[in-house]
Amino acid sequence: MVKLIGDKKIKIAVFISGKGSNLENLLRHSFKKKSQFKIKLIISNNPSAEGLKFAKKYKINKKIINYNKIKESEKNILDKLNKCQIKLICLAGYMKILSDNFIKKFNGKIINIHPSLLPKYKGLNTHQRVIENRENFSGCTVHYVNKKLDSGKIILQKKVKILTTDTIDKLKKRILKQEHLLYPKAIKKVLTNL
Ligand code: GAR
Repeated sequence: MVKLIGDKKIKIAVFISGKGSNLENLLRHSFKKKSQFKIKLIISNNPSAEGLKFAKKYKINKKIINYNKIKESEKNILDKLNKCQIKLICLAGYMKILSDNFIKKFNGKIINIHPSLLPKYKGLNTHQRVIENRENFSGCTVHYVNKKLDSGKIILQKKVKILTTDTIDKLKKRILKQEHLLYPKAIKKVLTNL
């Protein structure tokens, strides 16, 4: 019976480049009985990404995108995604840009988490720039991925107050905590609209 419910879960793929704390958090959510999704594939551009250890730990299929042979590699990944019947791609600390063709093939089914209050602070080094600009608030955003960097429709956002004592690391940690709360909620919202 439990297996039947499990089989009905929506299959998602998570793309990572580094530590993978968002990935681990999503994995934990996916194991809950009530979860609507399960993670079938973990993809990384970085063969030594720390987060790939979760593929081994939780026995999830993993694949590497080779950016030296990007066309061929993206094609292989697309084949794999289709074979695994992946319905949603979640970028979680994925620090590479996907090609327009790839995005088109998964149109409206790729989402990303970004550590700022988009549309402010797109791109890299967000926490540093936010602190340098003496902002009062930062936060995190889950949004759909389109051809323009960090510019797709916003799904959910969470504001975080910046403290006078904040360093880049302290702010990063506080925002990451909020990311872990926000991403599962955003996935739930997206899945109800799929
Ligand atoms: C997260 O803060 C995520 O928002 C950010 O990378 C970190 C990954 O942490 N993503 C981006 O900056 C994408 N532009 P994690 O590997 O521990 O999940």
